[in-house]
Amino acid sequence: MEDRIPVITVDGPSSSGKGTIARLFAQELEWHFLDSGALYRLTALAAERHAIPFDDIEGLETLAAHLDVQFISDDEKGATRIFLEGEEVTDVIRSEVCGNRASMVAAVGPVRAALLDRQRAFRQAPGLVADGRDMGTVVFPDAELKIFLTASLEERASRRYQQLKDKEGSVTLGALYQELAQRDDRDKARAVAPLRPAEGAVTIDTSGIGIEEVLAKVRQLWAQAVDEKNSKRQGRA
Ligand code: C5P
Repeated sequence: MEDRIPVITVDGPSSSGKGTIARLFAQELEWHFLDSGALYRLTALAAERHAIPFDDIEGLETLAAHLDVQFISDDEKGATRIFLEGEEVTDVIRSEVCGNRASMVAAVGPVRAALLDRQRAFRQAPGLVADGRDMGTVVFPDAELKIFLTASLEERASRRYQQLKDKEGSVTLGALYQELAQRDDRDKARAVAPLRPAEGAVTIDTSGIGIEEVLAKVRQLWAQAVDEKNSKRQGRA
């Protein structure tokens, strides 16, 4: 148990900053990074391309279990390129439409189960920072450190608007606000792996706080977790 590969989970609602923080902290520690939302987005995109309707549970489960995806890290840009069935879809899966479809397939229990092992396979030495909705509650319940990032709906909608306005010309702040609210409700209300802080998770409200400040807090929490682990170990020695 002592020598298991360490995991830090970063969960929270859409546009809470968890993706950015998790990716930057993984880079800082030189650990692996799991963007679990991308797997749900890829499943939604594959369902659309193979014309599998969202009420075809078996079809979706089979699709998720056999998803042909590749994550290739682009070290120069510090980003990850994502391929579905050999075709690059890095930008395609980031659209609002794909995010909304992802939250619909993510409510299907057998889809979640089919993606579980694939997510756990990212746990490789020297460690993993995992970003999602159920990383601390379901996928890595034994994580060394669990973080839950939140921010007000207004702030999240405005962040998302800044990200999208140049890419999706037709997007409006009001529509994004509604979509995020709907997506949050769906993610929180679903029967399987609903969005909620894991037991023992530290919640950080990122409203009005910059990335550097949030990162500093995460760094401090991790240093504390390492200290606690070391003193427990010494206590036993
Ligand atoms: O994080 P991202 O916005 O890419 O996630 C897209 C959707 O995938 C979320 O709205 C959520 O419904 C689903 N998701 C999930 N569990 C995760 C990650 C994402 O249900 N661990």
